[in-house]
Amino acid sequence: MARLVRHEACNPIEVKPQEKSVWICACGLSQNLPFCDGNHKLARQSEPEGKLCIYDKDRKTVIEMRDDS
Ligand code: FES
Repeated sequence: MARLVRHEACNPIEVKPQEKSVWICACGLSQNLPFCDGNHKLARQSEPEGKLCIYDKDRKTVIEMRDDS
């Protein structure tokens, strides 16, 4: 699985030290960046192996799929 996600932010987001673990989104699909909100499950369920999935600006819908080669 691979994906292109459009990001427009130009600044980092500070994550202050926490007492408990926090999960940072690595898939790019969270609606609560920089934190994981569980949307990575969408990628697992809907992105076929060997395809590059390109998402809309809301990171909710795949608008194009290409061969990932
Ligand atoms: S890793 Fe991106 S939403 Fe969980």
